[in-house]
Amino acid sequence: MMALRDYVVARVDELQNGQMKEVKAGETDVLLARVDGTFYALYGKCTHYGAPLAQGALHGRRVRCPWHHACFDLTDGRRLEAPALDGLPTYEVQVRGEEIIVSVPEDTPDRVTNPMAKADPLNPAVYVILGGGAAGAFAAEGLREGGFTGRILMITAEDTVPYDRPNCSKEYLQGEAPEEWMPLRSEAFYRENGIELLKNCRVTQVDVPARRLTLASGETLSCEKLLLCMGGEPRRLGLPGENRPNVFLLRTLADSRRLQETARQSRRAVVIGSSFIGLEGAMSLHKLGYEVTVVGPEPVPFAKVFGEEVGRQIQQWHEDAGIRFRLGRKTDRLEGEEKVGRVVLDNGEVLETDLVLIGIGVSPATGIVSGLALEKDGGIRVDRFLQAADGVFAAGDIAHVPHGDEVYRIEHWKVAGQQGYHAGLNMAGANRPYEAQPFFWSLQQDKTLSYLGHAQGFDRIAFDGRPEDDSFRADYLKDETVRATLTLDRDTELAERDV
Ligand SMILES: Cc1cc2nc3c(=O)[nH]c(=O)nc-3n(C[C@H](O)[C@H](O)[C@H](O)COP(=O)(O)OP(=O)(O)OC[C@H]3O[C@@H](n4cnc5c(N)ncnc54)[C@H](O)[C@@H]3O)c2cc1C
Ligand code: FES
Repeated sequence: MMALRDYVVARVDELQNGQMKEVKAGETDVLLARVDGTFYALYGKCTHYGAPLAQGALHGRRVRCPWHHACFDLTDGRRLEAPALDGLPTYEVQVRGEEIIVSVPEDTPDRVTNPMAKADPLNPAVYVILGGGAAGAFAAEGLREGGFTGRILMITAEDTVPYDRPNCSKEYLQGEAPEEWMPLRSEAFYRENGIELLKNCRVTQVDVPARRLTLASGETLSCEKLLLCMGGEPRRLGLPGENRPNVFLLRTLADSRRLQETARQSRRAVVIGSSFIGLEGAMSLHKLGYEVTVVGPEPVPFAKVFGEEVGRQIQQWHEDAGIRFRLGRKTDRLEGEEKVGRVVLDNGEVLETDLVLIGIGVSPATGIVSGLALEKDGGIRVDRFLQAADGVFAAGDIAHVPHGDEVYRIEHWKVAGQQGYHAGLNMAGANRPYEAQPFFWSLQQDKTLSYLGHAQGFDRIAFDGRPEDDSFRADYLKDETVRATLTLDRDTELAERDV
């Protein structure tokens, strides 16, 4: 039994119904909330990156994190939505007269894992998760949280446990995030929860109707239920020279590590692609000391997603940091003997370089799938329960998911995690429709942009503040309905909208 200590943390009249605030209980940051006259106390920092939850939003008895929109249950601290994996410790609250007293254990942990079913060796059912990324990691936990006690096999072509992929273009690439930040869970966690992780295991064929996988070793594997979550494969230019050793893609931890190591030997970098991976990669290479030039075919970065005004402002942030742009330009050829030393553009301009990073988007990694009709872009269409065929589910970057009367495929971390978790619960028998709003964030220089919703095209943008300000909101409207909202430094406001 842990020893508890009582702390007077606030007065009753300091919190109205529907409000929350951060208080101190000794050294511990506590989130105190009041809903329908009842007070709740939980550990106050998000288990993802440590955001102060009091700056998020309260939706009934759910707390939305202000930074990347994880969601927690106020009553028991359970993590309800990605990108956090763990839940929050909860504390007993007493009201004595006008004082609110919270009982906090000495050495209280800063996280607790959601309750999970134990693997039962007598349960012969085998469920396979093909993919050890965001969707796969959350799906494995969703299966156990949903009560599944059979065998879980999580298969990944990579040589690691699931890790924080978004960090591969940010602090990790800059050398600012230590290795130990990257794994989402330890090997021991998977062992203890009966989740068998098959690393370095490439699947070469998936027979969907038979739910049978063929591995690169030639072995085959059949299962009762299967989740497909193979993520995206970086697109290539299709130009001679792009297999040279100083030409990089940025999808995996190994890619990021390799890029970081090369940084010690080179000075100039050309980044081909001016969207999320291209510009985050450019930012991090520049912080590593490179002179960086970005080449992109569109005249303004992100114009299609965010509109021209916002796109120009993002470009300005990067230019202010010292990054150069060649926009409205395509790459004609890569020149050099053993390494690429020159990137030649379609107007004949030559960019001398020591390194090339290609960040021109990804395609669904579904080339191995047979017996299932794929969408035009190679993605997999699922129903509202994330099911693609009998006993076969799909989630994450590869999945076309119905949202109201639209169907779309999203390539973002929280969405993949949340879909994976949901698919895991449904595979375990929950049978719940998937209804979440998409959310993503991107780091552009020292500015974190947050985006809620999905606008497949928009008629106009309504601004509150301007893109050149330190804080603004942009609502993307189609048929006079707000389809999506982009914010800079409006975290609480956006969390409030993410009901
Ligand atoms: C560098 C980088 C930065 C990013 N930054 C952000 C960000 O800031 N914000 C944001 O919202 N999103 C970001 N994203 C996007 C986000 O990471 C993806 O949307 C998310 O990882 C998708 O999850 P997933 O599970 O669908 O696929 P992935 O995470 O790609 O996982 C796919 C898994 O499938 C495995 N696999 C694939 N094919 C096979 C096969 N044939 N055999 C065996 N295993 C296979 C892979 O090895 C991998 O384990 C970033 C992506 C990258 C690459
Ligand atoms: S810090 Fe809370 S979701 Fe990232």
